[in-house]
Amino acid sequence: MKIDFANLQYQYQLYKKEIDEAVQAVLNKSNYIMGEEITQLEKSLESFTNANHAITCSNGTDALLLAMMALGIKPGDEIITPPFTFIATAETIAFMGAIPVFVDVDERTYNIDPSKIEERITSKTKAIMPVSLFGQPADIDAIQLIADRYNLKVIIDGAQSFGSTYKGKTDSNLGDISTTSFFPAKPLGCYGDGGAIFTNDEELAVKMRQMRTHGQDKRYHHKYIGMGGRLDTIQAAVLNVKLKHYKKDIILRQKVADRYCEELETKDIVLPFIEKFTTSVWAQFSIRVKKRDEVQLYLKEQYIPTAVHYPRPLHLQECFRYLGYKVNDFPVSEIVSKDILSLPMNPYLLDIEINNINQQLLKTQV
Ligand SMILES: Cc1ncc(COP(=O)(O)O)c(C=O)c1O
Repeated sequence: MKIDFANLQYQYQLYKKEIDEAVQAVLNKSNYIMGEEITQLEKSLESFTNANHAITCSNGTDALLLAMMALGIKPGDEIITPPFTFIATAETIAFMGAIPVFVDVDERTYNIDPSKIEERITSKTKAIMPVSLFGQPADIDAIQLIADRYNLKVIIDGAQSFGSTYKGKTDSNLGDISTTSFFPAKPLGCYGDGGAIFTNDEELAVKMRQMRTHGQDKRYHHKYIGMGGRLDTIQAAVLNVKLKHYKKDIILRQKVADRYCEELETKDIVLPFIEKFTTSVWAQFSIRVKKRDEVQLYLKEQYIPTAVHYPRPLHLQECFRYLGYKVNDFPVSEIVSKDILSLPMNPYLLDIEINNINQQLLKTQV
């Protein structure tokens, strides 16, 4: 039995008729750039998230850049962020010429630990950038409280968490700006690169819309230094179809997570921890196991694909050597990166497949 990690092909087959028609409509109109499908998608994203403004863009990385550009982040500014995340979070901070200032993560949620933020704030700190890792928002209220006290902005890297909630609100509707990614394997993915930015601030929304299109306020009149950061109309057409089914997908993902949790409850496997006041969209179902690499190899031999998110925390990456961090600076991130393991996660995993994964995994624990 060969198990598919994200099973994008199955999803396409499921919605094939609708997706083919939507893409064909774009081809028929040839409205490839900023077609009406983009406006339609942005409206749907606003009603899905309750954020006042949704601005689609080229990918989740550019979404972070646009957010920082709109907030006027300058070289030398410091932005607080966790080291246990995908590279794009801190990479974009550095790309802006700003300085990523790392704060370790909480041992249970793997999200930034708010109790460690304050000691890292300096006169140069301009923003806090929490990540909603694996699909679960960080403790935004605690973060916002600190941000308000020090007059800092909050940019939520929600690349993995579109549709998740924190105290009943989607995490696209929190912070000053929240971003997401529609990378194909994300919970809501398109068929190429894609992303979006959310804000309730009208002024920021106008600025980000303009910056997304080379900073122009009218054609060939450039108010800001911007970028070519638009989402393709074809991707919007795919997302318009998939968004209609997304609530269903989230429920199915939750069911898969529940099945894993029920059967993998052993003293040696650390299961994901979801706070009572948050929901996850399960971008990943990541457990912690001893002898991770051996377990991963064994599962591979049983045709069970797994992944490691992430094997090396960002403060120990070569590209950030100039920041001067060393081993043991962020012990939680370092320990977690050694034994974290993501199991197959998609809405279409069959009971028989989940059973097999669980049984094989439990065999490695005896
Ligand atoms: C936490 C995080 N931030 C940012 C990104 C960047 O998104 P994209 O791949 O769409 O540029 C990703 C995507 O992989 C991510 O997981």
